[in-house]
Amino acid sequence: MAEQKLSGDVFYPSAEIKNHANAKCDELYKFASKESLSFWSSEADNLHWFKKWDKVLDDSNKPFFKWFTGGKTNICYNCLDVHVKTFRRNKLAFIWEGENGESLSLSYFALKRETCRFANVLKGLGIQKGDRVTIYMGRVPEIIIAMLACARIGAVHSVVYGGFSVEALHERLEDSQSKVLVVADGAFQRGKIVELKKIADEALQRAATVQSVVVVKRTGHQINMEQGRDMWYHELMALPIANSFCPAEKTDAEDPLFLLYTSGTTGKPKAILHTHGGYMVGIYSTLKYVFDIHEDDRFWCAADPGWITGHSYIVYGPLLNGATSFMYEGAPSYPFPNRWWQMIEKYGINILYTAPTAIRGFMRYGDAWPNRHDLSSLRLLGSVGEPINPEAWKWYHRVIGKEKCPIMDTWWQTETGMFMITPMPCTPLKPGSGTKPFPGIEADIVDDNGNPVKPNEEGFLVIKTPWPAMIRTIYNDPDRYVNQYWSKYPGMYMTGDSARKDDDGYFWIIGRVDDVIKVSGYRLGTAEIESALVSHPSVAEAAAIGLPHDVKGNAIHAYVILKTGVNKTDTLVEELRQHVGHEVGPIAKPEHIEIVDSLPKTRSGKIMRRVLKAKALGLDPGNLSTLEE
Ligand code: WT7
Repeated sequence: MAEQKLSGDVFYPSAEIKNHANAKCDELYKFASKESLSFWSSEADNLHWFKKWDKVLDDSNKPFFKWFTGGKTNICYNCLDVHVKTFRRNKLAFIWEGENGESLSLSYFALKRETCRFANVLKGLGIQKGDRVTIYMGRVPEIIIAMLACARIGAVHSVVYGGFSVEALHERLEDSQSKVLVVADGAFQRGKIVELKKIADEALQRAATVQSVVVVKRTGHQINMEQGRDMWYHELMALPIANSFCPAEKTDAEDPLFLLYTSGTTGKPKAILHTHGGYMVGIYSTLKYVFDIHEDDRFWCAADPGWITGHSYIVYGPLLNGATSFMYEGAPSYPFPNRWWQMIEKYGINILYTAPTAIRGFMRYGDAWPNRHDLSSLRLLGSVGEPINPEAWKWYHRVIGKEKCPIMDTWWQTETGMFMITPMPCTPLKPGSGTKPFPGIEADIVDDNGNPVKPNEEGFLVIKTPWPAMIRTIYNDPDRYVNQYWSKYPGMYMTGDSARKDDDGYFWIIGRVDDVIKVSGYRLGTAEIESALVSHPSVAEAAAIGLPHDVKGNAIHAYVILKTGVNKTDTLVEELRQHVGHEVGPIAKPEHIEIVDSLPKTRSGKIMRRVLKAKALGLDPGNLSTLEE
C-alpha cells in the first residue's frame, strides 16, 4: 500500500523498524475499527482465564461499563505463574538499580516466590479479598512485590507516590479505609534520605483504620517502631507462614484490582478504580503493540510505580508480556547527569519511556553527557505526561535515539488505564503529536455542545466508545464518576483536555481545561494546594494557578490573603512553601507565592483562576461580567 502523504514535519519509520514490529498496523486498525469487541476478545485470548467470559462488553448500566463479565482470571497469575510454567521461569522479570549503585535481579521464578511469600504475610495480618492495602515507598523491588501480592489474593492496593507527604497520605489512607500500610523506613533521593516512615507516623496520627504497618528496611536510619502496630518486612518474611505456596485467587474479571488517587477539578483527590480483567487486557496489548515488546527486550519505563504509568507499564504490562522490566531508584542526574545513559549502556536497555520534563532537563546539561555512552541498544523511545515540545522531541530523537528510534508519544490518563492516543512503530511521526487513537479506540474533538469541530480547530477531547482498561468508578463516589466524566456530553467520556486534529487526522493535545495543573508531568489539583495553604494558621484564603515553565512544563503560582494582623514577611512566604511541601509533597511547593489583599471572584464566591492567569501572563482576561470585584 502506498504511504499516505502527510503535511508538516514528518518522520517516517525505517523498514527495519516496521518489519520488526509486532503490530501489522494497517491490519490492526482495520480489524479493530470494524469489530472492536472481536479485537479485544482476541487480545484477551492470549491471556489465561480460569473461566472464559460470557460477554466481552456489558453496557446495560451505562456509564458503569463492565468487561469480560462472567470471566475468572487473576492478573498476578498472568504476570507470574503463566511464565514460570515455561522457559521464562529463569528469565529476568526485573532488574533494579539503587541510587547508591546496589543492584538486584529477580527471575520470574524468584519474583513469584517473593510475591507468594508476602501474600501469605498479608493473609497472616488478616487481609482478605477486597480489603485495601496502602503502599508507600520509593522505587524499590518491595513495592512491586507488595502490589503483586495484593493482586494475588484479591486485595485492593492503593499505592501512594513516595513524593507525597503527610496530608496527601492521610487522605488516601482514610478514604480507602486501608487495614494495612506497607511503608519503607525511608527513600534515597539525591543521596539524602526522605523519611517516609516519619511522614507515615504523622499521617497515621490523623487516620484511624490502619491496624498493621509493615516496614521495609531501605535506608536503615533510626525510626520509631510502634509496638503492636509496626513490624519489619524482613522479620515477617522470616516467619514460617511466609512460605512460597499461595495459590492465586480466582478473581472475577470485574473484581477491583487497585485504587489510584488522582487530582480532579475540585475537592479531594479521587480514587480511580481499576479491575482485574479489562485492565489486564488493555495494558497487555497496548504495551505489546506500541512498544513492540520482544522476548529479548529490556524495557525501561522511568516513571514511578506510584503513578498509573508505573502501575501499567513498569509492573503489570511488562510482566504480562513476559518481558524484562528495569527500575531505577534515584534521581536522574545523580551523582552526574550521565546516570541514565550509563545504565542504558550497562544493562543494554532497548526501549526507554519517559516524560518531556526529564528530556528537557537532560537537554540543559548538553549533548556531551549522553554522547559519552553507547546507546546503540535503544530501538524505541517513548514520551508521556504532557505535550512534548517539538524542540525536545527532536533532541530526544537525535541525541538519544541517534535518528533511528521512533518516539511513541502516548496520550492517556490514570482513568484510561492504558495508552489511548499513540503511534505504533509503523506510524509516521510528527514531533509534538500523539498521532492517532490506538486500534479499537474512538476519540474525537468536540465543541461546547458536543459536536465535532473542524480540522485545526481547538476543542474538547472526548472518547466515544468504552475500552477495556477504563476507569470503572470513583471509589466511594459513583455520582462523582458520572458527573465528572459522563455528564457534559451524554454518551461520551470527557477527558478534561483540549486538543485539535490536523488535516491528516493527527491529534495534538493542548492541555487541561480544568483546574488540574501538570507540574513536571505530575498531576496536581489547585484545590489540594489551596487547602494546604489555608490549613496554615496565617492564611485566610488562597488561589493556585499554573504558569508556563521551561523545564517543568508548568509551575505553581499561588496568591494568598493573610489573616488580619499577620505581617507579610519573606520568612512567612518561605514557611508557606514549606508547609505545602509538608502537607502535600515537595512537588506541590509553589514556585512563587504572592501575598494579596483580594482575589478575583464570581458573585457566588468562586475564585476566577483564569483572571489571575491572564493577569500574570499579561493577557486579556476575557469576559469579566461575572466578576464580583
Ligand atoms: C493527563 C493525565 C497517563 C500517563 C501519565 C499521566 C496529560 C498525558 C500526554 C501526552 C500530552 C499528556 C493530559 C492528561 N498527558 N500524556 N502524551 N501528551 N498530554 O497521567 O496523571 O492521569 O494525567 O496528562 O493532560 O489528561 P495523569
